[in-house]
Amino acid sequence: MRNHAVPLSNNTSLIKWVDKMAKLTQPAKIHWVDGSQEEYDMLCQQLVDGGTFTRLNQELWPGCYYAKSDANDVARVEDRTFICSLSKDNAGPTNNWENPFEMRRKLKGLFSGSMAGRTMYVLPYSMGPIGSPMSQIGVQLTDSAYVVVNMRIMARIGLPVFQEIDKDYKRVVPCLHSVGMPLAPGQADVPWPCNKEKYIVHFPETREIWSYGSGYGGNALLGKKCFALRIASNIARDEGWMAEHMLILGIEDPQGEKTYIAAAFPSACGKTNLAMLIPPAGFEGWKVWTVGDDIAWIKPDEKGRLRAINPEAGFFGVAPGTSAKTNPNAMKTLASNTIFTNTALTPEGGVWWEGMTDTPPAECLDWQGNQWTPESKTKAAHPNARFTAPASQCPSIDPAWEDPNGVPISAFVFGGRRADTMPLVYQSFNWSSGVYIGATMGSETTAAAAGAVGKVRRDPMAMLPFCGYHMGDYFRHWIKMQKGLEETPKLFHVNWFRKDEQGQFLWPGFSQNMRVLKWIVDRVRGRALGQETPIGWVPRHDDITWDGIDFPATDFEKLQKIDRKAWRAEVIQHEELFIDLHDHIPSEIIYERELLICRL
Ligand code: OXD
Ligand code: MN
Repeated sequence: MRNHAVPLSNNTSLIKWVDKMAKLTQPAKIHWVDGSQEEYDMLCQQLVDGGTFTRLNQELWPGCYYAKSDANDVARVEDRTFICSLSKDNAGPTNNWENPFEMRRKLKGLFSGSMAGRTMYVLPYSMGPIGSPMSQIGVQLTDSAYVVVNMRIMARIGLPVFQEIDKDYKRVVPCLHSVGMPLAPGQADVPWPCNKEKYIVHFPETREIWSYGSGYGGNALLGKKCFALRIASNIARDEGWMAEHMLILGIEDPQGEKTYIAAAFPSACGKTNLAMLIPPAGFEGWKVWTVGDDIAWIKPDEKGRLRAINPEAGFFGVAPGTSAKTNPNAMKTLASNTIFTNTALTPEGGVWWEGMTDTPPAECLDWQGNQWTPESKTKAAHPNARFTAPASQCPSIDPAWEDPNGVPISAFVFGGRRADTMPLVYQSFNWSSGVYIGATMGSETTAAAAGAVGKVRRDPMAMLPFCGYHMGDYFRHWIKMQKGLEETPKLFHVNWFRKDEQGQFLWPGFSQNMRVLKWIVDRVRGRALGQETPIGWVPRHDDITWDGIDFPATDFEKLQKIDRKAWRAEVIQHEELFIDLHDHIPSEIIYERELLICRL
């Protein structure tokens, strides 16, 4: 067997940094990650032996494992997430900021000896296909084998990435991660090591990530939110591209013409479901192709067209609510080679979560390992339980999903979870009014982040927790991105979650959202009509294809209603965000606001 301690790269600055961080964190061993299947199997076995993983019934769930986290480490911790730019002003009022020099001092203290008794893995990863001009490379030092095996699904890792690093022309983003639970000699480990104190810290100028105390999701799989959004949004602003919290999908019509769109929704608003949509009855010959379900990196090509890649290689999806009815493609994707975290465990050695089947199992172990029956008052799965599944296993994965040059984007869609005010769909008048729509997006909060659930918060472009610099400058960057484009994508807003006075959803959602996607494609292609309203262009009942469903015009009117009183309150709420951002807001946004008020 390979000696894992031997460096797999000859890049001297990388080797020096690894040495320096090892001196700081004092691991018992160093393991350079090659990314092979043998290594993955070995680490999974180690996690099984240590009690972190349960190997699922291999007949029912081939290649799948199950993990339960510590009860205090179940979601991203936004209040412990910091953007430590040199100036506080650059981080802006929507981010937590601390002086980078003081933060470094604090982190050095926390990380000092933090890996004692553990292995430090040197995990190289590429966000985006290896070798793509749009890809970026990171190296994560972590003392969590759970993180290594999850990252192997979520990103391209191992030897081929070291080879890229050794070419020495690509800048590497250094990422240091520790669960913050050193082991004294002879001290037994726990299944889910972590620390009560958590710090998820980004240094935008030096492009560094330091994460301490958590082993969960976006806190620990540093390629995802920390790199692909917070650090990448900084790189993208400097280099003239965009790092967005967006799914990417391709819609193919019966003639084989494909239209790609990218869509921004806050966490746990059904991005994975939309990205993997199967068209309903009445849409024979149509197909939706999945490129990505969470993050898009978007760059203008030499023809002045925006092209997007999915920087990830897997899906870290919310399990509860995912079923053969709501998302058959996701269920097929996660049927094998998947890691489940904080779902319930069934007596047959399978997993279960609320919404997976109509009938719950007669008994199971809940996400904390307690006996659970349908009579129990608690949930069997944590609301933020996740599956980590390879994108390549998705039946609807787009043949071009790994195209190094990305796919051409014809439309951006913004959306939130809103019980009122927001119609099912509308289109902005132009780019800057669309940027205004994205900038003022609101959504009810979900379990993806720790904190209160269900209250409306402004979440511009679904980037509130992920924009690595001042939100006002981010709006300016959006405005600027249109300059130089030969083809400007059209901008839309959707809301699948509007309710009537009785609290019932007005729209069936899921596969029926295809009707909205088709209107968007038709608008992009100049084929569909619509009606002008104070907020933008909307479809009339006749502009939507209703084949295969009976959806009366009166119901559609309720769904599309633009209630001026509600909009008045809405616009006043926009102002609350703008007051915070006022000294960085681009004038276009101010003018768009005035125009909206005049039209209303
Ligand atoms: C995610 C999130 O995990 O947005 O994708 O929280
Ligand atoms: Mn997300």
